[in-house]
Amino acid sequence: MSRKGLFISLEGIDGCGKSSLKTELEEFLQPYSPVSIREPGSTVISEQIRQLLLDCRNDNIGDRTEAMLYASARCQLVDEIIQPSLSSGRLILADRYIDSTIAYQGYGRGLKLDFLYNLNQLCTGGIEPDLTLLLDLDPLVALDRRADGRPDRLEQEGLEFQTRVREGYLQIAQTNPARVKVIDASQPQVLVKTMAIEYINELMQRHNWSE
Ligand code: TYD
Repeated sequence: MSRKGLFISLEGIDGCGKSSLKTELEEFLQPYSPVSIREPGSTVISEQIRQLLLDCRNDNIGDRTEAMLYASARCQLVDEIIQPSLSSGRLILADRYIDSTIAYQGYGRGLKLDFLYNLNQLCTGGIEPDLTLLLDLDPLVALDRRADGRPDRLEQEGLEFQTRVREGYLQIAQTNPARVKVIDASQPQVLVKTMAIEYINELMQRHNWSE
């Protein structure tokens, strides 16, 4: 029996613990050979766009240009990896997707949400995750967690920016309660992982993916 592909995305502000969770989920999902991707990136073209976007020397990228560059990176990723993987029934685990654009470029930068939804509709053809795990964390705590790394262009934006991004994410979760599940990322990592796995198990059961 051929299975419908499944698409899971991870979201949250910088320093929320998304990368650690992703590594743990990759391990948990190993029996399903997940297609693991990150945004922006994961194709040759998208990784080159990523370098442009995160380079601190590019401090004069306009807000709309920024949004369109993220959209271009996503467009290539959808065409090369996401769409074909879903068509062949694979499970995708994505580090960020459209919600990042709504939260960062919409709530963070203040671009119109309609413009961003239209742009993303164009570049994704309407493909949405089946489940989005949102790691919610106080930006001050997140800042503390990433204090030892060199900040990229977006991470340099400061606390007020990250606070707006967090509020944006919570708004997205409120509007899409069936898809977006909020996990309190201030909990011990093991509890964050347990909750994430519970949501994934529930999704898999609903889609007849359970072994
Ligand atoms: P990355 O180093 O991958 O951050 P993280 O490990 O926190 O995911 O950098 C991605 C950065 O790009 C991050 O600050 C969020 C930002 N971003 C946007 O502003 N808009 C988007 O559409 C996407 C996908 C990411």
